[in-house]
Amino acid sequence: MRPKVYITRRIPESAVAKLRESCEMDMWDETDVPVPREVLVDKIQAVDGLLCMLTETIDEDLLTRAKQLSVVSNMAVGFNNIDVDAATTKGILVTNTPGVLTETTADLTFALLMATARRIVEASDYVRKGNWKAWSPMQMTGQDIYGATMGIIGLGRIGEALAKRAKGFDMHVLYYNRNRKENAEKELGLEYASLERLLQVSDYVCVLAPYTPHTRNLIDKRELSLMKPTAILINTARGGIVNEAALYEALRDNKLWAAGLDVFEQEPVSLDHPLLTLPNVVTLPHIGSASIQTRTRMAELAAANLLQGVSGQMPTHLVNKDVRGLTDRK
Ligand code: DGY
Repeated sequence: MRPKVYITRRIPESAVAKLRESCEMDMWDETDVPVPREVLVDKIQAVDGLLCMLTETIDEDLLTRAKQLSVVSNMAVGFNNIDVDAATTKGILVTNTPGVLTETTADLTFALLMATARRIVEASDYVRKGNWKAWSPMQMTGQDIYGATMGIIGLGRIGEALAKRAKGFDMHVLYYNRNRKENAEKELGLEYASLERLLQVSDYVCVLAPYTPHTRNLIDKRELSLMKPTAILINTARGGIVNEAALYEALRDNKLWAAGLDVFEQEPVSLDHPLLTLPNVVTLPHIGSASIQTRTRMAELAAANLLQGVSGQMPTHLVNKDVRGLTDRK
């Protein structure tokens, strides 16, 4: 019998076609609207595999309703939307899509840094609103990037790719990570630092850590108070890592120069969010990995993980390696 799978959003056709070849497939066929919870609750009961997005909360309650689910394949590298412990207890595999989005997300992080430092969005609005009267010495002045100091919080694949870009701009790069990475230090000329020192000396603090109970509000009022008033905070990881209320206060009170945010604690961010009232905040709709090529690669990888999971093979990108029944897989 062909395994039954459900996809929670329209994904690139090449990935859909791959699944159609060997599975009975159903999909929430929308591009921008997430699958309603009640639909997911209904669908999960009768499928062997679920391909989902970071917009779906895959919690214990949902997993308990599944009668034959063997794999949850997340089309993202982050998997904080999934209760991995609950899945592990129930013998359900959880997979993600690392690697394929590294360079694209590093590109976006650097683009957001540049846009924030050089006030690109503000300056573009300035022209469009007819405020540009003449060239002026102090008009739309930003911060230098070339030769500045970057602090990377979370030196995973994306952090290393960002460091390479920073080196091209002759930046001094510090990093803070749970584990020290001496090879990366040698290869890329990075300096390992405590979180405190990184915050104190960096002109650009880039948050790239995974979102876990340990990193929730990692950057809070105290941490922001350590940063230079000319410094810029960039977050392309997850919203909950930076305390948004504390960030708003720091920016409003000129204790921090600017922030570039691709992610928010609640997404989509509410239009009346205080951070959206500040001119020195550049905001994006969680588009770190959003290039046509990368989103296609992510969908194809998520489909491949799903296929491996439903066909009794060992998925290449398994998150919960301690799930029971794994030894029976090829
Ligand atoms: C991820 O993969 O976790 C990103 O946030 C979306 O690309």
